[in-house]
Amino acid sequence: MSKRAGRGMARLEMPKMQKLAELDLPDLPMEDPAFSENPLPHFAAAREMHPWLATCAFGFVITQYDAMRDLLWLDHSMTTANQGVVDIMNAEGTRWGRFQKEMLGARQGEAHKRIRSVIAPAFTPQQANRHRSLMRKVIADLLDEWAPKRAFDFEEFASHFPITVMCGLIGAPPEAVPRIRASLEAFGLSFSLDREHLPMLEDAMKLLDAFVQDLVAERRKNRRSDGERDLLEILIDTLESGGLSERELYDLLIFALVAGYDTSKNALTLLMDAMIQRPDLYQRCADDFRFCQKVTEENFRYLTTSTIPRLTTKDLTYRDVIIPAGTMLFFPVSIAGRDKLAFEHADDFDPERPDLRKHLTFGMGVHICLGQFIARAQIQEGLHQIAQRIRNPRRVGPSAWRPFYGVWGLRGLPIEFDPAPAQELATVE
Ligand code: HEM
Repeated sequence: MSKRAGRGMARLEMPKMQKLAELDLPDLPMEDPAFSENPLPHFAAAREMHPWLATCAFGFVITQYDAMRDLLWLDHSMTTANQGVVDIMNAEGTRWGRFQKEMLGARQGEAHKRIRSVIAPAFTPQQANRHRSLMRKVIADLLDEWAPKRAFDFEEFASHFPITVMCGLIGAPPEAVPRIRASLEAFGLSFSLDREHLPMLEDAMKLLDAFVQDLVAERRKNRRSDGERDLLEILIDTLESGGLSERELYDLLIFALVAGYDTSKNALTLLMDAMIQRPDLYQRCADDFRFCQKVTEENFRYLTTSTIPRLTTKDLTYRDVIIPAGTMLFFPVSIAGRDKLAFEHADDFDPERPDLRKHLTFGMGVHICLGQFIARAQIQEGLHQIAQRIRNPRRVGPSAWRPFYGVWGLRGLPIEFDPAPAQELATVE
């Protein structure tokens, strides 16, 4: 709005700055199981009351795509909120609490850069492409075992895929999978902000720690002699040249296992649920690998898994709101893709949309997901073979939903289907 100034010149009226605490904001009951089952109407209603902000039990929620994208870049004004999560969980002094405060995702500045740069070379798009043959073999073997059943819980089936791939990438034997799967499942609830989960998280941390320590000790006795440098070789070399401490090495291995497990499994399960509702697209995925790439990307927009917590370290002003230092902010990137202001026909699953990569599934800024190229490649490879061998999938029972905070998704996806034999695979990357 412009106002007439004394000398006849138009002067822009400055928007009035508002303090966060003084705003009348909608409240989102994100801890409520009913919210978790159907969050989209809550977000739409919240955006009617305030275009980009709401409150929740533990702080404030950024509800709009543009605001999430703009604010997640502000690494100089925010930290990851792991200390806040440990406080909410009453976990100071526990093994799990220590891990949450010291692992890569919790670090800031130079400490973060140093540790991230140790493993970043193993997570480039080129490296992810190199691992496609491993991914193809893992999913083919799993389908050989599971497809003859004609009915199963798809979430359970999907849970074996990322973990077996990750064991292969790290250099752990596939026999390790049954030993660590339950602990990874438990770890997936790390950011659910429910204190009742703490004893289970502590047990999971103990088991995973013992697992990675055994793995490192075994490998230090028997280093690879075939010239292959899996993640374990890279990390042990870095340890021996003084670039990492032993504790940092163990934490990196645990983080590599947990960061890619629940997220990938839940993304694949949400994708299967979407495909059951779109058999036309699912059929094309069996025939056309390039189309699987588009469907995978569209699924990352349509519904995905994570809510990212941050803590502001400085006062910051966004649009006309002053957000003080020490504010806990939640970024539900899981539903950001359904913001109608950011995406045309946002509620339609459309793998041909022009802005397929605009989603925020993997976060933004210095903590952007390091495993994103691995995640993409394994879901694309998985989808292609699953669509060939699990024909005509039908949902035969209800699903529950996981807590919305942290890593969200379906709990259980019971299906029946017509099994089909393996096909010759095209080698497209
Ligand atoms: C669909 C699957 C996946 C999703 C949706 C996902 C999502 C995310 C998100 C949102 C973040 C940012 C967290 C933040 O800003 O605080 C992140 C970080 C990270 N992810 Fe993923 N992720 C996936 C798969 C993977 C895989 C397969 C790996 C492989 C190990 C992985 C490794 C990591 C690591 C290491 C970080 C921390 C990076 C840092 O703090 O510098 N992720 N992920």
